Amino acid sequence: MLAVPPLALYVHLPWCVRKCPYCDFNSHQARGALPFDAYVDALLADLDHDLPLAWGRTVSSVFFGGGTPSLFPAPAIDRFLQGASARLRFAPGLEVTLETNPGTAEHGRFADYRAAGVNRISFGIQSFDDGCLQRLGRIHDSADAEAAVKLAQDAGYDNLNLDLMYALPGQSLAMAERDVERALALAPAHVSHYQLTLEPNTVFAARPPAGLPDEDLAWDMQERCQALLAASGYAQYEVSAYARTGRRCRHNLNYWRYGDYIGIGAGAHGKLTLGGAQQIRRRWRVRHPSAWLAAAGGAAALGGDDAIEPAQRPFEYMLNLLRLREGFRPGDFEARTGLPRAAIEAPLAEARRRGWLIEEGGRILPTALGGRFANDVMQLFLPDTGPEPTTGPQPGR
Ligand SMILES: C[S@@+](CC[C@H](N)C(=O)[O-])C[C@H]1O[C@@H](n2cnc3c(N)ncnc32)[C@H](O)[C@@H]1O
Ligand code: SF4
Repeated sequence: MLAVPPLALYVHLPWCVRKCPYCDFNSHQARGALPFDAYVDALLADLDHDLPLAWGRTVSSVFFGGGTPSLFPAPAIDRFLQGASARLRFAPGLEVTLETNPGTAEHGRFADYRAAGVNRISFGIQSFDDGCLQRLGRIHDSADAEAAVKLAQDAGYDNLNLDLMYALPGQSLAMAERDVERALALAPAHVSHYQLTLEPNTVFAARPPAGLPDEDLAWDMQERCQALLAASGYAQYEVSAYARTGRRCRHNLNYWRYGDYIGIGAGAHGKLTLGGAQQIRRRWRVRHPSAWLAAAGGAAALGGDDAIEPAQRPFEYMLNLLRLREGFRPGDFEARTGLPRAAIEAPLAEARRRGWLIEEGGRILPTALGGRFANDVMQLFLPDTGPEPTTGPQPGR
């Protein structure tokens, strides 16, 4: 039986000052004055459209992602949160995160976000090296980054995340370590440490920048930075996420544990479990901000709406759960997918045989080797992909 999991709310705010050359998020360079009020009205209409799928449920986190949500003035964020809390039950003490580009931080803004109900700020720092920041096409420099974090701290925020990227053009191992050290000096609650990837349809994919570290150097950077973070009390709980005790990101944890979320705003994705119908649905909005704005609240704003068939669920579940160090209990798999453990017994046995997963204290966990070959582990769980009696990656179908 499918059990109804916790529910989160994702809100996509799609504009940026400038498009970064590595970025494949649904983000668009702002041209002229942005329609903040119309966008908030459209978000609330979009939320109304999904409400019948979530009646009576409680929201445990809200995440304003982008794009650059910090381009939105605090009164717009406040009006959205008030409207959303009138439509959905908000859990007491829910986590409310807002992504911020340090180049958009202004004095007074963080206090106003805080008054609106935002209690967690996630900064897109990327690096503290000004040369690296320039090569990444960022609008901020390291002084802006440090000043922005301090402004947020002065406004009373103690739940801050800093996003860093590594394997940057022109970056050495020592430079990657220095970035982590400078992040740690600001004493954030959480650090996200992403390897720069060349995403299709980005400027970097078309014209890769000079001086990109090779895979071995990227691996060394990851290991050394992981050790620095661990030594300062930041436990890695996901492939790219590190937190102090009690400071894991509840919103992202809910994704990785295959929880539910409503996704509203241009191009946003949602996943909802319908207990009565024993269905899992994924729906997503049209991507372009002006097309979405014109249609929000109606069926035309939907880019698609699919039922996740039982055969697809093991792969979807593993894709998320195996990112987590904590792994999962077989009972969690059964509750979140509505399938018996027997549905994954064969690929689990194969993954154990290859040393990619272990079962310990009633939980199934990725090993260090499994972490390194994560894509191969996932492929064992693809529909119709039976485990092979040989070692080596499984071909996807
Ligand atoms: C939506 S952005 C965060 C907020 C804001 N837009 C910013 O960039 O400052 C989410 C994060 O994803 C990471 N990211 C974006 N593109 C990436 C890429 N190609 N490879 C690795 N990490 C990437 C960056 O660390 C970025 O901060
Ligand atoms: S500011 Fe963030 S979302 Fe916007 S283009 Fe750059 S990385 Fe992408």
